[in-house]
Amino acid sequence: MEIKAQLRGLPPYQPGKSVEEVKRQYGLTDIIKLASNENPYGCSPAAKEAIMKQLDRLAIYPDGYARLLREKVAAHLGVKETQLIFGNGSDEVVQIICRAFLSPNTNTVMAAPTFPQYRHNAVIEGAEVREIPLVDGRHDLEAMLNAIDEQTRVVWICNPNNPTGTYVNERELTSFLERVPRHVLVVLDEAYYEYATADDYPQTVPLLRQYENLMILRTFSKAYGLAALRVGYGIASETIVRDIEPAREPFNTSSIAQAAAVAALDDQAFIRDCVEKNKQGLQTFYRFCEENGLRYYPSQTNFVLIDFGIEGNEVFQYLLERGIIVRSGNALGFPTAVRITVGTREQNERVIAALTQMLKEKQLV
Ligand SMILES: Cc1ncc(COP(=O)(O)O)c(C=O)c1O
Repeated sequence: MEIKAQLRGLPPYQPGKSVEEVKRQYGLTDIIKLASNENPYGCSPAAKEAIMKQLDRLAIYPDGYARLLREKVAAHLGVKETQLIFGNGSDEVVQIICRAFLSPNTNTVMAAPTFPQYRHNAVIEGAEVREIPLVDGRHDLEAMLNAIDEQTRVVWICNPNNPTGTYVNERELTSFLERVPRHVLVVLDEAYYEYATADDYPQTVPLLRQYENLMILRTFSKAYGLAALRVGYGIASETIVRDIEPAREPFNTSSIAQAAAVAALDDQAFIRDCVEKNKQGLQTFYRFCEENGLRYYPSQTNFVLIDFGIEGNEVFQYLLERGIIVRSGNALGFPTAVRITVGTREQNERVIAALTQMLKEKQLV
């Protein structure tokens, strides 16, 4: 047997530690996980009710076209239903895009560090990956433009960017889109869209009319609090959606996920409340950083990347032993930082208390 050469040595996705694992390993009971940018307030109660109603229908395949969800999302965004493609998480939409556009002898341009699944799926398709280093944690759009050539098929902009939380503003984005050759698909990954509150964070759906080579990715995993159900989507021109649909699995979103997403979308008051609390949580982390002279990236997401000036793994381990799971920057391309998801007020206070103690113990202040 001979596996594709590019799969040899390609590490599978390494998930962060689970709460159960930490409970077992450290004998702790009160664990908080602030590692995967999940919504600490869960999801709308309406989503849970919608899920219960699906439980009598488990023997039936889901609607492969996700008709009801499609209608809801289209109306919510003001786009045509035929401009949407749904995925088993936006992860799967990334995979579909790579399957549809990339092959050996093509290349794809992205920032580094950024969300790792763009690279991972591009490597599997045998495409060349052109990674353009972030500058001060932000996309270097000029250098990304310069990396594009005839063989470029897809450019990825993670906006806001994971793991830095930084964003490309409206002016920068439109100037970039003006200059990207029309044969290149520009993917704007807006997984954290709902959390972005900056006045100049771009509203990109109206741009789809102007730029036919644009695709936007959104998800129900973050602010909507439905990460377990795996539902995300792409928004693009009807032509792009029609062209990539054959690369989608037939029943890729479950009935439960579709029903929960429909109900969650109707509860915008829940989203507004979570976004407001998240904003306050970010301020709490910023204050902590400023009081202790720590560098951080101002974030338009529900996480913050903080540089402690020591190995990220060391900070990660210190917190882990105290029942707090965060994400070490070592695995994210920021070896002296950790990425912390903004939690509830109580959770944030507990993390900050532990970090304050750590700074004292390690004589970092
Ligand atoms: C930038 C970004 N894009 C996409 C995803 C994937 O989200 P999902 O597959 O749950 O929709 C994530 C998850 O962490 C992310 O941070």
